[in-house]
Order: sequence, then C-alpha cells, then structure tokens
Amino acid sequence: MADLKKHDTPMIDELKKGPWPSFADDINTRAESGVQCCYDLLGQMELSYVHKETHWKHGGIVGVFGYGGGVIGRYSDAPHEFPSIAHFHTLRINQPASKFYNTKFLRKLCDMWDHRGSGIFNFHGSTGDMVMIGTTTDQLEPIFFDLTHQFDMDLGGSGSNLRTPSCCVGKARCEYSCLDTQAITYDLTMTYQDELHRPAFPYKFKFKTSGCPNDCVAAIARACTSIIGTWRDNIRIDQKAVQAYIGGEIKPNAGAFSDRDWGPFDIQKEVIDLCPSKCMYMDGNELKIDDRECVRCMHCINVMPSALRPGVDTGATILNGAKAPILEGAQMSTLIIPFMKMEYPYQEFKDYVELMWDWWMEEGKNRERLGELIQRQGLRHYIVDILGRKPIPQHVKEPRSNPYHFWKEEEVPGGWKRDLAEFRKKHLA
Ligand code: HEM
Ligand code: HEM
Ligand code: SF4
Ligand code: SF4
Repeated sequence: MADLKKHDTPMIDELKKGPWPSFADDINTRAESGVQCCYDLLGQMELSYVHKETHWKHGGIVGVFGYGGGVIGRYSDAPHEFPSIAHFHTLRINQPASKFYNTKFLRKLCDMWDHRGSGIFNFHGSTGDMVMIGTTTDQLEPIFFDLTHQFDMDLGGSGSNLRTPSCCVGKARCEYSCLDTQAITYDLTMTYQDELHRPAFPYKFKFKTSGCPNDCVAAIARACTSIIGTWRDNIRIDQKAVQAYIGGEIKPNAGAFSDRDWGPFDIQKEVIDLCPSKCMYMDGNELKIDDRECVRCMHCINVMPSALRPGVDTGATILNGAKAPILEGAQMSTLIIPFMKMEYPYQEFKDYVELMWDWWMEEGKNRERLGELIQRQGLRHYIVDILGRKPIPQHVKEPRSNPYHFWKEEEVPGGWKRDLAEFRKKHLA
C-alpha cells in the first residue's frame, strides 16, 4: 500500500489514548486496510482542530434521481490537500422497522459499501436510519440502484421532509407491547413516501412509535408526533403471583437487580409507595388498583411483570412537539390525544396527521418545528381550532402555571346574586 498518503495527526492521536473505544481508532483501522479517504478524513479533522473551524462545506443539493432527501451533501474546502474526500456524501438508509437484520444481509451491505464508499457506517443515526458515511457524487446512483434492486432497501429522510419513521421492538420481543409498532411504522413509511423523499415541509418532521409507556424508542423526547402504546381498561392482576413476589418466590424486576443483596422484596416500599398517582393499596392479601387514577406509568408492571400486565383494550397516546434545542429550548412532547385505537388502516390517525400538517405547512416559519409552532401560536389554538378537539385537564402545558378558573354566571348555581346576610351567617367564626 505504498501509494497511500498518511497525514500527521498529533491531536487526533490524543483521542486514541483513553480507555474507551474511539472513533479515531476505528477510522484509523479502516485506513490501514488500504482506504485513502479514511486517512484524508483524519487529516482534514486535524486541520480543523488546528484552525478551530470546520473544513466541510455545505453547498448545492446532491441527491438521486427523483429524490430530494436521503443524501446529505458534503464537500471538503481543502480538496487539493485531501483529494479523496473532495466529495464525501452521507446516505441515510431507511432501516427495517425495529432494526432487525440477519448477518447475511449485513455482510452483503458491508461488501457493497466497501466497494462504493468509505466502508464507514453508523448504526444507527439519531433519527433511526443506517447512516453510510462518505462516498463520491458519481457513486450515488449506483448505490441507490443496488439498494433498491438488490437489498430491498430505500433511502431514508433528510432535509425538510418526513424523517424515517422508527419504532421500538414492540411485539416482536416484548410481550407487554400495546401496539404492533412495526406494522404502524411500515404503514406510515409506505403511506407517506412522497413526504419522506421530497422535502416540502417547513423543517424536519418525525414519527416515532413506542409499544408502551416505557418508551424504549424515546418517542416522547424526540418526535414531532410520538405514538406511545397504552391501554384504557384495567391492569390485569394475578393475585397468586403477587403473593409469590411477596413471598420471595419470584424475583422482582424480572431479576434485573439481583447482582447484590437488596434485602427481601417489600411491595409497600417498592411498588405501592412509588406509584405516582398513589392508586394502589393492599386490601388484606389482595393488591388493589384504582384504575381510574392510574397514569399508565408502567412502574408496577416493570417491578412485578409476572403478576401485572397492561389491560387488553390497547391503543396509543398521541403526543406532539418534542425537539432538540435548535431555536427555543429542548422540548418533550405534549399530550394531545389521550387514547386512539391504532388498527389498520389507521384512518383516524391519518385524518389527524392531515390536520396537523396542513396547519404546520401553512403557518410554520422556515426551520420552525411543529413543537415551536404550537409554542408560538398556543396549545389551546392548536387543540381547539386546528384539531377541533375539546380541551381536557391533561392538556395543561405546565401543571399549576395557571390555577384559576373563571366561572361564567350560568355555570354557578344561583348565578352571581347572593344573599349577603345568608352568606355571612354560614361563615361566622
Ligand atoms: C387586584 C389586585 C391583584 C390581583 C388580582 C393579584 C393577583 C396575583 C396573582 C394571580 C398572582 C400570581 C400567583 C401565582 O402565580 O401563584 C400574584 C402574585 C403576586 N402579587 Fe399580586 N395581585 C394583585 C395585586 C398586587 C399588589 C398590589 C401587589 C404588591 C404591592 C402584588 C404583589 C404580588 C407579588 C409580590 C406576587 C408574587 C408572589 C410570588 O412570586 O410568589 N399583587 N398576584
Ligand atoms: C419587602 C416586602 C415583601 C416581600 C419580601 C415579599 C415577599 C413575598 C414572597 C417571597 C412571596 C411568595 C410566597 C410563596 O411563594 O409562597 C410573596 C407572596 C405574595 N405577596 Fe409579598 N412580599 C413583600 C411585600 C408585599 C406587599 C406590600 C404586598 C401587597 C400589597 C404583597 C403581596 C403578596 C401577595 C398577594 C402574595 C401572594 C401571591 C400568590 O402567590 O398568590 N407582598 N411575597
Ligand atoms: S417501549 Fe415498551 S413495548 Fe417497546 S420495547 Fe420498550 S418496553 Fe417493550
Ligand atoms: S402503572 Fe403506574 S400509575 Fe398505574 S398503578 Fe402502576 S405504578 Fe400506579
């Protein structure tokens, strides 16, 4: 490999010294197997460290025929020094729902990427996709052809469009999942192909689907629309199993905390007292739940999975507006629809998506995410005027920020007129 050009990278080399795995190590290993662009990548990064500024320039749209999203164009502004990364575009590939692969598929994909790109992958990007890091403009169409014809894969979303929908493993591995997360993600991906591939939105838009309130895909923290599985009937209780937990025959938390001695399981301390809505109690030997007060947090179910299970009337809670702190601050999503049945073809959900998107596309400023538009124009306006829904107590943006209710005369028994003498008589000290 005598023709490879290695750059001096004293600062990057520092990154390899820690006890943790380093991306610099990984790129270097790849470079040593004879890949010039990886040496150039490290060289350009060293230059950025010296100058304290990036040497990647953004410029021009680069994509594949018919698609505006999926390829993130990157060019070096020092192409003479680092010719093999003069173009170094990233591709987002639509990952299979729940990210299931077999090794045969992965090997084949790696071979293709070794041949047509840098050989560097990111599994997975924060949006969820497989991220193929670094290739040249002339390879984009061949890669797209290979992906769609040999791998049955499509490009994912990038730019101001629908980003690749993603979900947790759901029913595939998790018996508590209240939703078929994969079916929903697949359907949304197929239904909104145009929105996924052709940027026409004010900014990015994300759907994420979690099978239950444990929210393993963190939909509540990251998605413009979080679809989170829940139930509206009662938690199923197996009283015999409750006794087995109390008696120590079944390990709490499915044995997850058995690495040291935590003492005997105490249902009062570890379950009942930690229920956020304080709706559980022991009635003699029976565990009781006042399900009307339960907020579906999953805590009790996680601690005693053999005794407690979600109900059987399952569906989704829909939330809107999570985002990272680009314009305002970081934001978690806000509850919009407490319960919606999620059954194929998901028509109720899609009707709601249309209302939401119409408003956002009409009113959203350039680079304003749905959550910011809701913040700017108001949650009340969004829920009442745009979605045509009735407000409910759970829609309060911050609990207790406005504790006052202004009654109308017709809502008050007897109206505003009071017999003062009568009133004072009642309130004598
Ligand atoms: C009709 C007259 C007034 C009304 C209806 C009124 C109402 C309120 C309300 C609703 C709050 C907010 C409570 C909260 O967020 O928990 C508040 C806070 C406050 N008000 Fe008034 N207020 C009035 C007059 C005044 C006057 C004349 C003063 C002072 C001279 C005053 C001093 C304060 C202070 C210092 C707070 C803040 C307390 C805190 O930060 O915890 N208010 N008032
Ligand atoms: C040096 C003078 C004052 C100080 C240091 C002061 C301090 C405070 C503080 C710390 C609170 C919040 C209590 C809490 O959060 O529980 C409060 C509440 C309040 N203060 Fe004062 N205060 C002063 C003068 C006044 C005056 C002159 C008025 C009225 C003329 C007033 C009216 C109120 C009211 C109405 C609230 C309750 C607001 C609410 O939360 O509903 N304060 N004050
Ligand atoms: S969110 Fe719920 S259903 Fe999905 S993987 Fe986590 S625990 Fe399982
Ligand atoms: S799910 Fe959460 S709120 Fe509901 S009963 Fe269990 S601990 Fe309480």
